[in-house]
Order: sequence, then C-alpha cells, then structure tokens
Amino acid sequence: MTNATRADIRDVPLAVSSTGAGRDRDTPAASGRFKRLYNIAEIRKAALSALPRPVFDFADGAAEDERTLRRNVEAFADVALLPRPLNGAASCDLSVELFGRRLAMPLVIAPTGLAGLFWPDGERESARAASASGIAYCASHGSVCTLEEIAGTGVEPRWMQVFVYKDRGFTREMVERADAARYSALVLTIDNQLLGNRERDLRNGFTIPPRFGLAGTLSTATKVPWLLRMRTALPRLTFGNYVRPGHANDIASLAGRLAELLDPGLSWAEVDWLRKIWRGPFIIKGVLHPDEAREAVQRGADGIVVSNHGGRQLDGSPASFDALPAILEAVSGRIPVLMDGGVRRGSDVVKAVASGAAACLIGRPQLWALAVGGMAGVQHMLGIFRREIDRTMGLMGVSRTSDLGPHCLVPSRFGRR
Ligand SMILES: Cc1cc2nc3c(=O)[nH]c(=O)nc-3n(C[C@H](O)[C@H](O)[C@H](O)COP(=O)(O)O)c2cc1C
Repeated sequence: MTNATRADIRDVPLAVSSTGAGRDRDTPAASGRFKRLYNIAEIRKAALSALPRPVFDFADGAAEDERTLRRNVEAFADVALLPRPLNGAASCDLSVELFGRRLAMPLVIAPTGLAGLFWPDGERESARAASASGIAYCASHGSVCTLEEIAGTGVEPRWMQVFVYKDRGFTREMVERADAARYSALVLTIDNQLLGNRERDLRNGFTIPPRFGLAGTLSTATKVPWLLRMRTALPRLTFGNYVRPGHANDIASLAGRLAELLDPGLSWAEVDWLRKIWRGPFIIKGVLHPDEAREAVQRGADGIVVSNHGGRQLDGSPASFDALPAILEAVSGRIPVLMDGGVRRGSDVVKAVASGAAACLIGRPQLWALAVGGMAGVQHMLGIFRREIDRTMGLMGVSRTSDLGPHCLVPSRFGRR
C-alpha cells in the first residue's frame, strides 16, 4: 500500500473507508447486512436483540457482582497510546509468530463452551471464520461439536483446551484424542475446577439444557429467528466430547457428570504429568499470580494465558491487563505470555502487545458475533479487530507488531473517575 492510499483511507469517514480501497477484501460481509455493526459494542447490542435473554446472559454475565468483568474492560483505559506519526507507517504488518506458526494478527479465538447454543454448529462456524481470518482457534472441552468434528474443518492452527478430571484415565483419553485429531497445542485451563457463582443464570433460571423461567420464556418467544434457526440444533444440544456409548448422553446428564468429573484438587503434579504426555506446545490458561507464572516456566510450559476466565470464576480477582506487567516480569521473555479478558477494541490488542503480550484471546465477542451471523458474523467481528489494530498502529506510526513496546504507552487518567 502506498503512502497516498493510506492517507486517503485515514481521512475519509469510517463509513466510506470501511467499504473502500481494498482494506476489507477479506470481510465481504462488512458492506452488507453487518454494515451497522461497526464495532464490538454494536455487535453485542445486536446479540442482545437476537438472543433469548437467558442465553445472552449466560455469555455476557460473570460471577457474583461482576467486578472483575467490568475491570477487565476498564483496565485498558488506564494506559494511553503515545503516537509518533512522523515514523510514517504507510502500511502495517499485523502478523505475529506464535509456537512456530504465523498468525495474520495477534488474536486467538478463546475456548468457549456451548458455542453451538448461539448458532447451529457454532464451533465449526467460528473455526472456519478463524481460518479465513488467519488466526488460531482454541476448541473448548465443552463444545457442542466433538473435537474431531472441529478438526474436520481443517482450521489451523487449532488448539485444544482441557481440564483435569478426577479420573486421570479420562483426562488422558481427552489428550490422546486431541493428539490423534492433530491439534497443535494443548491448553490446560486451571481456573475452572470449581464452577463460579454466576448469578445472572440463577436469576434467569438458566439451566442446561436451556429451560427458562417465566421471564425467560417470554423473552424467548420474541426471538423467533433464533428459535427457527435452532429448532433442530436445540434438541441435539450436548457436550460432544463427553458423549459415551452406553451412557446417558443428554446434556442434562452430561452437565451433572461434568461437575462431578472435575478435580478441585488440581495441583502442579497434574501439570507435570500433562507436560509429560503431551508432546506439542503446552499452554496454561488462567494464570494471575507472578509466582505461578514463574513456576509454569520451570515446569516446562511453553506458554501461559493471563486470564480470569472473563470474570466468570473468582469475582474480585485482578483484571488480566492489570495482572499482565508483573507476570511479564516474572516470565522475562522465556515463553510467550498471552492474555484475555475485556479485549473489545483493536487498541486494546495494541496496548496488550505493546505491554509485552504475544497475543490476545477473544471470548464473548466471538459468541455475540456468532449470534448475529454464524461464520460470517465472526469473520466480520475479526475484520473489525483487524481494521482497528491496523488503524491504531498506523496512527501511532508503528509498522510492525514487533515494533510495539512499552515506549508506545503512558499511564492515562482516562479511566479514573
Ligand atoms: C460463555 C463462555 C464460555 C466459556 N467456556 C470456557 C471453556 O470452556 N474453557 C475455558 O478455558 N474458558 C472458557 N471461557 C473463558 C474464555 O476462554 C475467556 O477466558 C474469556 O471469555 C475471556 O474474556 P472475554 O469474554 O472478556 O473476551 C468461557 C467464556 C464464556 C463467555
């Protein structure tokens, strides 16, 4: 791209630039039915209109008073971007290298259970969108499709998220299935061995399978397009990876079994064991304490994700972006440090990468985008991130993600009340 082209794009209004001059080539949907969904907040609003309230709240909500959820988003406002426009970033290379693979931008789709509740075949739709956008996809243990079905989309790089179960044989089986289905990385989530207290679900009477209280039933009745779309998927909704011949495989039985299966006594011993049985990159997700990050490196982890599960587990735990600096210091560049939680703007991604994160995972925005348009919706959402990262870097005078660093950031008072 020439200087002139970049300048043209910068100076025209968003509505024109987002359909012009070749920047949206990989997001054909941007000029069509998603035209009004010009940022992640608008996609969230559209999801709120599209989904029955209990389903929307299942994704949107978090634990108890949702303080960590709110702080995840707000933390980004405490840092400001310090531009150097005379560096002349005529075009930006957003790509990053992660675990030996190049990603088109520093984003990964986060593992989110029950994506198939938001759109039929939701996991495969998201995986295809990730693939089309050149980023990695992390499958959840709790996907509706099986991990093999997701692998069947051919999405690469594909990562598999697992838990540790009381039955180590079952844990091993999950890992072996991920290996057989050629997942390139294993992600062990450590912050979900007990389920967080999600009060929106209690208030809505949300259960698995979805059986809504009176208000929820009324809300569902007004969401006819979702109901029609989901009419054949809903009765088949289940946790695909847990289905066993000869067992009760309906989602209610599986949800009950899952809660029983998880081992709340998870410790470093299981981390060591998983490290031994998984040959590829091994990533620990849910790290917030610098000492735990240091130990993860010593125990052979290849990466960590600074995460509080989107505020869905321990309310009152630090925001991921707040926790990031101490963890980066503890790890001191020995392994990639990723983060998730509250990433809603390309500028948030730029701030995380400038702080030292290797990439960000995107949780809820993926589910909102699925709810409004399946694969096309997720591709559109990723296109928004791509354009926002590109524009932010362009405005900052930074041409490559590798040129982002702490020198691009200053403390800000934006976030202070
Ligand atoms: C509905 C929902 C389901 C989730 N399921 C999982 C899961 O199965 N495994 C996991 O490790 N994290 C899960 N997460 C957490 C995400 O991977 C991620 O850490 C979090 O959503 C990031 O925050 P964000 O939603 O603000 O982007 C889930 C999050 C949501 C919203």
